[in-house]
Amino acid sequence: MNTAFKLMKFLVLAIFILQTKGTVHAQQQLPVVKGLKDVYASFFPIGVAVMPQSLRDTAEVALILKHFNSLTPENAMKMGVIHPDENRYYWKAADSIVAFAQAHGLKVRGHNLCWHEHTPKWLFYDKDGKLVTKDVLLKRLKDHIDQVVGRYKGKVYAWDVVNEAVADDSTQFLRNSLWYKICGDEFITKAFEYAHAADPQAILFYNDYNTERPEKRERVYKLLKKLLDAKIPVNAVGLQGHWSIDEPGEQDLVAAIQKFSSLGLKVQITELDLSVYPWEKERRALRDGESTAFTSDLENKQADQYAMAFKVFRKFKNVISGVTFWNISDRFTWLDTYPVKGRKNYPLLFDQKLQPKKAYWEVVKF
Ligand code: GLA
Repeated sequence: MNTAFKLMKFLVLAIFILQTKGTVHAQQQLPVVKGLKDVYASFFPIGVAVMPQSLRDTAEVALILKHFNSLTPENAMKMGVIHPDENRYYWKAADSIVAFAQAHGLKVRGHNLCWHEHTPKWLFYDKDGKLVTKDVLLKRLKDHIDQVVGRYKGKVYAWDVVNEAVADDSTQFLRNSLWYKICGDEFITKAFEYAHAADPQAILFYNDYNTERPEKRERVYKLLKKLLDAKIPVNAVGLQGHWSIDEPGEQDLVAAIQKFSSLGLKVQITELDLSVYPWEKERRALRDGESTAFTSDLENKQADQYAMAFKVFRKFKNVISGVTFWNISDRFTWLDTYPVKGRKNYPLLFDQKLQPKKAYWEVVKF
């Protein structure tokens, strides 16, 4: 009896210890993770570019609501999508994103009003197929901005008014787009004036890429300075942040933020992703034997680069008013198709199963 009692006591104790250990272990595996937006609450809002489909996917919605407090429609507000014919607007996709944001108390950045890409076919031509005059094109731009900015007034707090107007060729200043060919640089000044008139409260951005490369940085600075000197209502600059594990270096990133903010402009990182491949502009096919694996070496390099970038963002929290990621997770990124179609990329903080990556832990550890 005595022995049986002792054995029972031993078994109860053993089960208790095992259960307790199990609990502790389970808790260690599932730490209570605050969302990115909560970790950065005293710094700046954290945004993400979305498509309407993502807002119907339960798992992606959960991830968005946990980590982000600002949305950018990835494509839904681009001119080619929202204004497909001169007298027809397609609001459905953009409306659904704005409605989702309103329902969940998220901010919305509008993207974008004037860009050389994603333009509708009708925009630059008359009914005989000839290029329109400057007056006609500016009138079309004004109508577009009045309609789009007007519709979302009070719901979209910031607009990328002009996107990528500076040339890729470092010996040129402005891009020789049809906007430029027809209007000269007036399309830029007018776009800001029309946007300001349509919603005087909205924060108006000039948005561009490779803004940390010294030669591009200087030309973007020159444009912004010219606009400000002419009293054009530009309030902020968007550094797209389509970066890679190799660039920008810390010095160039710091120099860009300092240079632009010295003009009194707020700075946002508007389209952040860190490609695991070196930057290439031209589209090309996947090469035979080209590796597309996310190796632990790439994972570590990417984590270091994200750590560096967010260290700099935190340091400049007084001038940085937002950081937005371009897509939600590595499940889908525009970099899977550009510049190399079919080359899987892994540029974001969440993996293809929507789980936080090494880079995520670097970003929240400070
Ligand atoms: C640019 C544009 C974005 C988007 C990306 C690629 O950065 O500003 O709208 O098209 O290219 O997705």
